[in-house]
Amino acid sequence: MSGFAELWAQIAPVGRDAQTGGYLRYAYAPAEQALRAWFLDQARARDLLVEEDGNGNVFAWWGDPSAGDAVLTGSHLDSVPHGGAYDGPLGVVSALLAVDALRERGVRPVRPIGIAVFAEEEGSRFGLACLGSRLLAGAVDPAAAAALTDRDGITLDEAMRTALGHGPRGARPDLLGRIGCYVELHVEQGRALLDLDRAVGVASAIWPHGRWRLDFTGEANHAGTTLMADRRDPMLTFAATVLAANEQARRLGAHATVGRVQVYPNATNAIPGKVSAWLDARADSTETVEQVVAAVHLRAQARAAEDGTTVTLTAESVSPETEFHGGLRDRLSKLLDGAPILPTGAGHDAGVLSAFVPTAMLFVRNPTGVSHSPAEHAPDADCEAGVTALATVLEDLAC
Ligand code: GLV
Ligand code: MN
Ligand code: MN
Ligand code: MN
Repeated sequence: MSGFAELWAQIAPVGRDAQTGGYLRYAYAPAEQALRAWFLDQARARDLLVEEDGNGNVFAWWGDPSAGDAVLTGSHLDSVPHGGAYDGPLGVVSALLAVDALRERGVRPVRPIGIAVFAEEEGSRFGLACLGSRLLAGAVDPAAAAALTDRDGITLDEAMRTALGHGPRGARPDLLGRIGCYVELHVEQGRALLDLDRAVGVASAIWPHGRWRLDFTGEANHAGTTLMADRRDPMLTFAATVLAANEQARRLGAHATVGRVQVYPNATNAIPGKVSAWLDARADSTETVEQVVAAVHLRAQARAAEDGTTVTLTAESVSPETEFHGGLRDRLSKLLDGAPILPTGAGHDAGVLSAFVPTAMLFVRNPTGVSHSPAEHAPDADCEAGVTALATVLEDLAC
């Protein structure tokens, strides 16, 4: 028994909204920091050596990390707004329990085993997904990251200083160089394992994906006195663009979503002066993602000309396709009784790390198939199976 239910119950109330049942665990805000403190307590209770990387990420080591060639596992503790319980924390809790299981069996790893908790994986607070792992890897400039702002105008630098006493420090090639491989366990964000009747799967690839901000500008004016013919209403351009994104994604076999919008001044009786919206686009090839975004931009511009408005498109974060390490993927699948191999449209820190070290992912069945929503779920028995699978993998890789 891995004791999954007991450990899971300790974090279940943290950051949970009583009305929706969803989680509000924003990077460097109190709920996520409470989970981080909980993780550090768990690590110290297990005599793991805690290491902070200066970018908000923490590592808990079993064995001497300076030995190098470490086997790293872990995930993240932040959530999307009103997100599910499992996306992120399942990988962290499973890692702690997998270490317990190996110790109970008397396993003595030859390679150090580490548990990572990456900061701001969802990008829900500062807009850039996988911010912690990108900083660690040197894939984002720390000065540019420090200046990113949240919806209240608080910079990453300020948020980190308040929570940790310092801003982002940037690339840590020394730390990255000590990692031999990374295996992230994650709740499945689809129904493939349900259809295949398997509790655990192995990832093959992450679709290329990205986020683009669209700013539609018109003229704010009175809703009652402005003639329909005199309006320059950016809401119309925005609405037509959302429909175009849906149409183009269907036409090209991609996924496109507008899940976030800000309206200025956001008053019932005012024609807006500006609308900002965020387009999330994903597909099985970079060319298709680029085609979707270009087609949406063209349609937005054509509609803006009709509405007397303007539109600008800004890329906020773009992630290329990630093919996970083929040897590691096949080794894990074989070890886990031919666990099915699945691609995913979701982004993960594993995607960032895979550019530097052999990387793989394990997925745990989610019977709802839903994620980034309170309906996300994984039964305890499948979570236990996930812990057992992760322990098997860590033992195989580290011994
Ligand atoms: C993060 O989970 C993403 O895929 O956007
Ligand atoms: Mn997520
Ligand atoms: Mn996640
Ligand atoms: Mn993710």
